[in-house]
This record gives sequence, C-alpha cells and structure tokens, in this order.
Amino acid sequence: MKRVDDFRLRLGQKELVPIMIGGMGVDISTAELSLVAARLGGIGHISDAMVPTVSDRRFKTKYVKDKLQQYKFNVANSDKSVVQFNMGLLAEATARHVGATMEAKQGDGLIFINCMEKLTMNAPKETLRVRLTAALDAGIDGITLAAGLHLGSFALIEDHPRFRDAKLGIIVSSLRALQLFLKKSARTGRLPDYVVVEGPLAGGHLGFGMDWAQYSLPVIVAEIRDWLAEQQLDIPLIPAGGVFTGTDAVNYLEMGAAAVQVATRFTVSRECGLPEDVQQEYFKASEDDIEVNQISPTGYPMRMLKSSPAIGSGIRPNCEAYGYLLDSKGYCQYIEAYNREVAAHPDARKIKVFDKTCLCTHMRNFDCWTCGHYTYRLKDTTRRNEDGTYQLLDAEHVFRDYQFSADGQIALPE
Ligand SMILES: Cc1cc2nc3c(=O)[nH]c(=O)nc-3n(C[C@H](O)[C@H](O)[C@H](O)COP(=O)(O)O)c2cc1C
Repeated sequence: MKRVDDFRLRLGQKELVPIMIGGMGVDISTAELSLVAARLGGIGHISDAMVPTVSDRRFKTKYVKDKLQQYKFNVANSDKSVVQFNMGLLAEATARHVGATMEAKQGDGLIFINCMEKLTMNAPKETLRVRLTAALDAGIDGITLAAGLHLGSFALIEDHPRFRDAKLGIIVSSLRALQLFLKKSARTGRLPDYVVVEGPLAGGHLGFGMDWAQYSLPVIVAEIRDWLAEQQLDIPLIPAGGVFTGTDAVNYLEMGAAAVQVATRFTVSRECGLPEDVQQEYFKASEDDIEVNQISPTGYPMRMLKSSPAIGSGIRPNCEAYGYLLDSKGYCQYIEAYNREVAAHPDARKIKVFDKTCLCTHMRNFDCWTCGHYTYRLKDTTRRNEDGTYQLLDAEHVFRDYQFSADGQIALPE
C-alpha cells in the first residue's frame, strides 16, 4: 500500500513532498502555517486577500485606520466610487507581508501567494498588477491565481524580471476554464507551472453554480489529464477539495496527479489564523451544520457553517476602511442589498440582510466561517479534552499524517 511520501512533485529543478496547503483568506492560511509546509518540504500559501488589513494585525501598521480617515466624509454615501486604494501603500503592505514571510522561510519547500482576482478593489487591473508585482519583488516563490478566470493576469506581469523564474499556477474547476486560460495567455509564451483542479467539496468560494453537487473531482481531473496528454502538454495537475486522508491523496497521485492541495484539515491547527473559539465551532460541526450559499457579493457560491455570524448581519458597508470587492465603478452587491433593507425598514435601529453579506468586514473579523465539505469529520482527527473541547493540532502533525498515513487511517495527536 503506497503513501504520499512514495511520490514527489517536480516543479522545474525542484523536488517536493506533493502536499500543498491551499491559500485561505483573510489570513486563515497565515505565514506561520505556510512556513511549516515549506520547512517539511511541501508548499504553503499565504493569501493576498486584504493584505493592508493583515499587515495592520501582523506588523501594527495603520493602513486601515488611515484609509478610513481619508474617506470618512463618504461613509454615509452609497456611491463608493471615490474610495480608491493608494497603489504605493498597497505595494508596501504586500512587500512587508511577503518579505517577512520569505525571510523566515527554512527548509526545502516553497511558499506561494494565493491571489484572488475577484478582489477588484475599485480598480481591478491596476490593483492586481500592483499586488502581483509587489509579491514578485518581495521574493515570493510562486503565485497561485484564484477565484476568477484571470485571463489577462499573465500579461499584467510579463515584463517582470521574475516572470519566467517564479512559479505561476492557476486554479480551475473545469477543462473549459483551463482551455480558455491557455488560449488567452498563449501570447505570453508561458504555460502555467501547475494547475490546481478544485472540485465541489472545497472551502471558500466555489467555481461551480448552485448545482455543485452534480460535479465530481475525480471525473474533472481525469478529463483534464486526458486532454493535456492528447495535446502533449506536460503541466502538473494538483486536485483540491475533499482530500481528507493520505489515502485520498494517494488515489489521486496514482491516477496521475502531481500533488494535492489541502486546506480544511489545517483549519484546526494552532498555526492557522482562526481564533480558537471559531476552531471549536469547526470541530463541533455536523454535516447538517454546513451549507453552500450565495451571500458572497463576488457572485460565487461559498461554503460555510450555517452558524456564521456573517449570515443575516446587516452592518453598514465598510468600503471606506476596506472596499476590496468594489468593482471599477465602486459597486458591490452588498451595498445594494443593505440599502434596500434600510429603505424597507426606515425606523429600524438594526436591520438584517440575508441575501448578501459584507464579506470584507466579516472575513476580516473571522465571522464568516467558510469551510470545506468534510469539516464535519475534523472531530475524528483529534482527541477531546476533559472539558468537552477538542484538542488543537500542530500543523506539522497534520502535514505528516497526510505524508505518511496509509489505509485510510488518520493519526491522532499524542
Ligand atoms: C477556510 C478556508 C478558506 C479558503 N479561502 C480560500 C481563498 O481565499 N482563496 C482560494 O483560492 N481558496 C480558498 N480556499 C480553498 C482552499 O485553498 C483549497 O483549495 C480547498 O479548500 C481544498 O479542499 P479541502 O479544504 O477539502 O482540503 C479556502 C478553504 C478554506 C477551508
């Protein structure tokens, strides 16, 4: 019976343990978590979601406070088009977050940044270019382009001196999305170094509609693998979504995958950014406590615990402080939903908004408890304390369990 450790991921000259911890915004996949993966010879991700906010928490900077101060005059205005990010400060925050992480890196593994195209930040192209360029400048090993098709993202950085040396990968949920990307980026003369194929059981935003349950990751992976072979394209495939044990991973490696991307099992590790009381909610969850809903203003379905405080919360939009989901015209679906409820309940002191949520604020505050489908199995990966709470895990323990377990087994902590 094989184990994950019997396989290696080859990326250029590099040989890696074929385990990649996926990006989890906003700072759920912390620098600390990514550093464990790199130290153990795999790949870890930090996330570029709301980096100025993350920098404030990590380095005691004041980006959010200063931005709110600058745009305070606009807080009651439903038109948010004046709220712009300062590109110099955005680059500075990214460089700080990435630079400090890369400086702390030890071991043979790599650290990538997960970059969400859907963070349109009131100037989609410009802010994305700054984020990508600053991450490359600060020495990130690679960039995983996520959430959105990113059809033009390679072109945004094709003049960067590291365009060919940094590892660049994309996340897709269908063969068609991959074909579109390859067609659109062909002009840059560069293929992705790896393709993460994310299935319907993943955490965070899903690349499917509300009919997600009709799709199957092994089927999509096989379809993409066969098409790449037909085209004689040698691009490592990395399935993600519902890979819960080392044995699940081996099944994909045996069908030709180069590695797996995993996330949910690390949400209950000490190095993860979620506060401990939230981690206990993840442990306690049963299958019925998890749903895929449409409250994200990005328009993508998102999986989360039904008890997330973000659901139904009718707070005033915080675009002056955050504003990461504003499109190029300063529009976000939550602003519209909020204004509609305010108009419908003119005398209410507090309103409820159920169809959309202020994702920036609630992700920032760890109040949107996004999670993978198998979150309800996390309780089987640890021991219970005498007071009924569950024991948090070391990320190293979880990583090594993926790497060395066999027979569908999950090793419990000491
Ligand atoms: C809490 C959480 C947050 C996530 N946030 C992001 C994100 O910001 N960007 C992204 O591309 N994927 C995100 N994901 C998806 C993961 O990176 C990964 O591909 C997927 O969850 C793997 O499946 P698994 O959780 O079943 O192991 C998130 C997943 C979780 C569990």
